[in-house]
Amino acid sequence: MKADIAIIGGTGVYDPSILENVSEEKVLSEYGEVTVKLGEYQGIKTAFMARHGAGHTVPPHLVNYRANIRALQILGVQKIIATAAVGSLELQYRPGDFVIVDQFLDFTKNRVATFYEGGEQGVVHVDMTKPYCPEIRQALIESAKEQQIQLAAEVATYICTEGPRFETPAEIKMYKQLGGQVVGMTSVPEVILAREAEMCYGTIGMVTNYAAGISPAPLTHQEVVDTMKEAQAKLKKLICQTIEIANKTERDCLCKSAIEELGKF
Ligand code: HPA
Repeated sequence: MKADIAIIGGTGVYDPSILENVSEEKVLSEYGEVTVKLGEYQGIKTAFMARHGAGHTVPPHLVNYRANIRALQILGVQKIIATAAVGSLELQYRPGDFVIVDQFLDFTKNRVATFYEGGEQGVVHVDMTKPYCPEIRQALIESAKEQQIQLAAEVATYICTEGPRFETPAEIKMYKQLGGQVVGMTSVPEVILAREAEMCYGTIGMVTNYAAGISPAPLTHQEVVDTMKEAQAKLKKLICQTIEIANKTERDCLCKSAIEELGKF
């Protein structure tokens, strides 16, 4: 079976309940085997992948990003809506809030961030001027408006750390000075690989907590549980509407020709 659109569910998003006629498929890529759920939303063929595996067993630094993205490519996916749990570097972006990511700063250390490792694959320096697809970003923003879901920010710079540890307050202070608004551990290299695979890719950042040293008062566990529950319902609405909008739009962005036009040696 093929799919046109995929959802990559991050931390807290494991449930493809918006899909009908769901089947599970194992997709074998040259980087490993990946389990994907395939179904339909309003007749639109949609894939769902849990980034950290079913049951959240894979930590961010060990996610097989290349296998995940290649598997979606093999299924024919052209558009990806990803979710990512993030810590907030801004007091006004509160737990439960959503931000639409538009840039990243890469502080990962030990990840292969390309499909192109020379030799037969060639050498590629893919353009990252707009790392997150402008059309998927637009679909997310429009969809939030239509569903009356308030976005804490329509543009946000995502700091990607290696993890799996959380940051020190000193690191967060530095990241803030460098222009970061949210921090997470997974967007890099996922966003880069999606672009190398000429797929459109956008990310909903779901604020789960204030980053280290940002909030004067620590959150209670109950607050986190409550805000996340509320966020799940919002997220479902946001994703459903985004699938509909994305499905209607012909791709007119540079993602579809990222390699062809922008240089392979
Ligand atoms: N830091 C890094 N990654 C995260 C955080 C954080 O505070 N919250 C959710 N993912």
